[in-house]
Formats: sequence, C-alpha cells, structure tokens
Amino acid sequence: MKAIQYQAYGSYQENRVVDVERPQPKDGEVLVEMRAVGINPLDNTFRAGHIYFSTPDNLPRIGGQTGVGVVVESRSSDFNAGDRVFVRGQGLGLVADGTWREYVTTPAAGLAHVPEDLDDNRAAAFLAGAGYLSGYLALTEIAKFKPGQTVLAPAIGSAVGMETVQIARRLGASLVISTASTTEKAERARADGYEHVIDLSRENLKDGVLRITGGKGVDIVVDGVSGKLTGQALASLAFGGTVVVVGYAGGREAEVSITDIIWKGATIRGFTFRLFAPETIAAANKAILGYLKEGALQPTIDQVFPLTEAAEAVRYLIEDRPYGRVILQV
Ligand SMILES: NC(=O)c1ccc[n+]([C@@H]2O[C@H](COP(=O)([O-])OP(=O)(O)OC[C@H]3O[C@@H](n4cnc5c(N)ncnc54)[C@H](OP(=O)(O)O)[C@@H]3O)[C@@H](O)[C@H]2O)c1
Repeated sequence: MKAIQYQAYGSYQENRVVDVERPQPKDGEVLVEMRAVGINPLDNTFRAGHIYFSTPDNLPRIGGQTGVGVVVESRSSDFNAGDRVFVRGQGLGLVADGTWREYVTTPAAGLAHVPEDLDDNRAAAFLAGAGYLSGYLALTEIAKFKPGQTVLAPAIGSAVGMETVQIARRLGASLVISTASTTEKAERARADGYEHVIDLSRENLKDGVLRITGGKGVDIVVDGVSGKLTGQALASLAFGGTVVVVGYAGGREAEVSITDIIWKGATIRGFTFRLFAPETIAAANKAILGYLKEGALQPTIDQVFPLTEAAEAVRYLIEDRPYGRVILQV
C-alpha cells in the first residue's frame, strides 16, 4: 500500500511516497481503509526536526495524526466492517506510524463514528489542525472560561483561530474577535459570518481590540500565532485577563511590555496536550463531537490534494496561509 513516510528530518521533500506492507489488526484493534486525512503544522515541525521528539531513533515514520476512513476488518465489538470512522490517537504520525497511508490499524479506543451527513473531507477537516480540541481545552480547562466573557483568537484562516472562535461562540462568549493579515481574508471571513475580524494590514491588534471592546480589552486570548502578535495580545487584555499560548506560526520569539503583565494582573499560560489526563481529552472530544452534530461547528476546507502530493500540500499549509484546512485524499 502507498504511504507518506519520513526517512530523515529535513525539507518538505522528506514527505516521501513509499510502498509498505498493509498492517494486520490485533485483538481490540480495527483495520481502517483511509479516505481523507488532515495536515497539522506539528507534522511539519516534527519532520523538519524542530521538536524534542525529532530524534534519530524515531525514524522512519509514516506521518499524519488524524483522518477519516471505513472499517474493513474489526477485532473489537465496538465497530463493524463498513462503519465510517474518525481516526486519531495520541502520538500518531509522531512517535507511532500515522494516518497518511491507505490502511491503518488502530485500537478501537481511538475511533469514533462519523455523523452521516458529514462528507469525508469535512470530517477530516474537523480533526485536521486540532483547533476545536485545543480551543475547547484552552478555554474551559486553562482559562476557566465563563459564559459572557470576551475572547480573542487571532488568524481567522487558521485551525486554532477559526475553530476557537466557533467553540467560544458555542460556549456563550459575549464577543469573539479574530484577525487576518490581508483585507481579502478579512472580507471573506466577514462574509462567512465572523463579525469581528481585525484587518492587520490596516490596523494593529491592540487598536482593533480596544475599538471593538469600547476600550475594555478581552478577557481571554487563545493564540496560535505568537511572534510579533504576543506583545499586542497582552496589550489587548482586560484587567485580570488570560493569554493562552498555543502555537507559534508567526515566530518563537516575542517582545512584551512587562507593565501589560503587571498592571493588568495578567495570566500567561502555555498550552500542551501533556497537561491533560486522558479522561479530560476524551471528555473534550465527546463535547466537541456533540457540538458538531448540533451544527454549531463549521469545519472549513481551503484545498484538497491527492496523498501523493503531500510534500506540496504541507508546504502550502505552512507558507501560503490558507483560509481553512488542507486535506489529503487517499
Ligand atoms: N500546543 C499545542 O498542542 C498546539 C495545538 C494546535 C496547534 N498548535 C500550534 O499552533 C500554531 C497554529 O496552528 P494552526 O493549525 O492554527 O496553523 P495554520 O492553520 O497553519 O495557520 C497559521 C496562521 O498564522 C498566521 N500567521 C501569522 N504570521 C505568520 C507567519 N509568519 N507564517 C505563517 N503564518 C503566520 C496566518 O494567518 P494570517 O495570514 O491571517 O496572519 C496563518 O494562516 C502552530 O504553531 C501549531 O503547531 C499547537
């Protein structure tokens, strides 16, 4: 079967198309024929060799953390051949072979049934960037969000930005703000119903947030961009507010004003899945799947590539700043 495998840490070209053996399910496992799989910036960080588990003994590795497919053989009573399932699991595509291949075996515990009215690509988009899960956990577990609070999640085109905005709305935020780096992206987002999107080509983040909140600032920032935005995010906080630092698409280094931290009594928290017990993550997955079924979430796709074009698809996600998720069709 075809798979996308890294044989060395390095450039996008290390997303290599290879032929490998089809896996066999063990007791409690399920064999899934993959249909559509997501790309997450972490796939790129790992393959580039830029994270602590990018070690020589962790190669070769088949990439991909999540996806959707159809059960072809089940050795678990929870799933039957023909079931369409979400596939995910801790460490997939990173410290264990992942979803970017024609067939995957996985413990049944990592699977969930896909709602019937959700097509394969949108189902893959729901999991691709882990933005719904991250946004939910960042708001509820880290920032202790309460209905009526105000939330800023920069980069409306991104997984963390767009999906946190949707989660914050569902949880009852009184106001949800995001950003876009271009006027075109900001206008597209407004046309899609994201009312408060600051066009960073025309206004800086702090001025935009203070304009929209009548000078108050926001209670919670969930930030996947960082870099130059971190200082602005802190300056956009209301008194007693919290910044949850989720990612660094815009850079690993930041300049902040210490008085924004002191005078606002600010809390700055790092986000990593390692903070959460498996039961907490399972409960969060259940909650967001419920929101999806209610129609409260709108997984959004920018582009679908064939699996064999994984190298270009990953480059596109990282460099071209899409509006929505990038999916590989298997
Ligand atoms: N800690 C965790 O467990 C966790 C969980 C999920 C994600 N993450 C991390 O969070 C970050 C965001 O993930 P994502 O999936 O939301 O990313 P994404 O969909 O690829 O979007 C990133 C966005 O950041 C903005 N951006 C600003 N400056 C940029 C720059 N110099 N280069 C590229 N993009 C820039 C772009 O939007 P504009 O063009 O509108 O500015 C871009 O669309 C990544 O670092 C990811 O690894 C971490």
